[in-house]
This record gives sequence, structure tokens and C-alpha cells, in this order.
Amino acid sequence: MSTAETHNENNEFVEFWNEILVPKFIRYRHILVGGLTHHSARILPNLDVNEGDSVVDVGCGFGDTAIELAKIAGERGSVLGLDCCNAFLEFGRKDAKAEGIHNIDFVAADVQTFPFKPVHDFCFSRFGTQFFENPVAGLRSMRQSLRPDGVMTMIVWRTIDDNPWLGVPKDVVLGLLPPPGEDARTCGPGPFSMSNSDMVTSQLRIAGYDGIKFERVDVPLMVGNTLDDAVEFQLALGPAGEVYREAGDLAVARHDEIVTALKEELKKHETSNGVIMDSSSWVVSARNPG
Ligand SMILES: C[S@@+](CC[C@H](N)C(=O)[O-])C[C@H]1O[C@@H](n2cnc3c(N)ncnc32)[C@H](O)[C@@H]1O
Repeated sequence: MSTAETHNENNEFVEFWNEILVPKFIRYRHILVGGLTHHSARILPNLDVNEGDSVVDVGCGFGDTAIELAKIAGERGSVLGLDCCNAFLEFGRKDAKAEGIHNIDFVAADVQTFPFKPVHDFCFSRFGTQFFENPVAGLRSMRQSLRPDGVMTMIVWRTIDDNPWLGVPKDVVLGLLPPPGEDARTCGPGPFSMSNSDMVTSQLRIAGYDGIKFERVDVPLMVGNTLDDAVEFQLALGPAGEVYREAGDLAVARHDEIVTALKEELKKHETSNGVIMDSSSWVVSARNPG
């Protein structure tokens, strides 16, 4: 399969990722990749991946976990990194080339409808599955990438209350702007859509998995190199960014007030290493019974 090949069908969430979120993710890559890495770094060394394995990384974004997995799988193994945004994958292709890693293929695709071959030993996703329009279809598709007994591990956010780095700024902005309306354009069900372990367990069972396990990971995240960086990040992305974007002209009119209120709150978390706030995720693992 050519790395330039794409498998994206019409999907409004995929369109939203490509149109709205790609430029913002690229601008705040230092916060996103730096922060999300804390949630995978703890578990990567203990994942069920061995030298020679064939691995899939779903919603792999800039490709940093796919590259880490390719190093573990080694020359005899391989990694297929999938994401619906080709612009993200270009970073992964460039980084892999720069590191001399050849056992990796990045393909632009909607994971929910990707025609996987059931040959992979391991399927991974760091914060990629919460955005599936149809979570059961996406999880089933991931299971269909696995050989019998193959393992899927995904990292997903716990609730917004467990993630003050996103919840606190949202509350600040909601103090000054109305909540997004029913017709708001979104990137999918959203970052907290898999926070309920009972619901995710049901989704995984319906998608055909067994051996379902949850492990909680709590880590502080750097959410901005400086206070200004942190405020701009919050107004661009995440739940606060959504409220701001959807408020349109009202948000522009109240911009200075919002920035002042956000600075006041985020200042409480300012350290010599940037603005640091708490975050919490689930590491969810399950097996394809075949
Ligand atoms: C929060 S980002 C996480 C990216 C990366 N895994 C990381 O941890 O840095 C979510 C990623 O999922 C991708 N994504 C969302 N829905 C998708 C779908 N249906 N198929 C493939 N990728 C999808 C987005 O393009 C985005 O790169």
C-alpha cells in the first residue's frame, strides 16, 4: 500500500478535523505531543508488543507513538499508522525518515471503515478513539485488524472533572460566554466520550472483545510554556476553545475580559517549567478472541 494512499470517506467529523483542528494542532504541537506523551510513556515499556510484531496505531496524529512502536517491533516487525488527517501524517513520515526507521507506513484513513487484514499482533491508540462517530464500529474495526488473541490498548481521557487542565478553563470561559448550541460543529463525540468505564466495557463487548481491563493514569501536564501560551492554547483548542469558537462575534467582543479571567486562573498553576495542571486517563486493554 502506498503511503500516499487515502481511505477517507465523507464524514463530517473527519472534515472538521481537517478543516478546523489541523492548523491548531500543528501550532500547539509542543503542548499536545509533549503532554500526551506523559500518558503513553508510563505504559509503552510494558505494552504487549514484542520484537517482530505487526502493530497498528490508530488516530496516530503526528506519529510519535507509531515511531516508538516501530522501534520496539524492530526490523522484523512493522507498524501501520492511521489517521484521518494526512497533514499530521506528513510529520510522522518526515520524523521516521530522519530517524532512519523504515518498518512504518502512514496511511490517511477513517479507521471506522478501513479494510484491515486480521493479521496484526497489537492495535494501539493514544487519545484517537474518543472521536469515532460510531465508537462500536471503530472499536470493531480495530479488533478486525487483530489476529486471534491479538491485543488492543487504547488511552482515553477520564471525566472532565478528573482533567482540570481542560475543565477549569472551560468553566472560566463559560462564565463569560454562552454554551455552544446544539448545532455546533464538533470533532466527534469528544475527549470525554470514553470516560465511563461501564459504557466502554459494553461498547468493547459489543465490538467483540474479551479480557477487558482498565488502568488509571494520573499525570501533571505542561499546558503552556508561558501564561500567554497557555491562554492562547485554551482559546484555540479543547472544551474552552469550543465555547470560544462557537460564540463568534460575542467572543471577539469579550476577548480581553476572557483573557484576563483565564490568566487569573491559570496563574495559580504557573511554575518555572511552564503552566502545569493535572490530567487523568484510562489505559484500556482488551483481547480479540478470534
Ligand atoms: C487527540 S488526537 C491524538 C493524536 C495522537 N494519537 C497523539 O496521541 O498525539 C486524535 C487523533 O485522532 C484522529 N482521528 C479522529 N477520528 C478519526 C477517525 N475516524 N479515523 C482516523 N483518525 C481519526 C485525529 O485526526 C487526531 O489525529
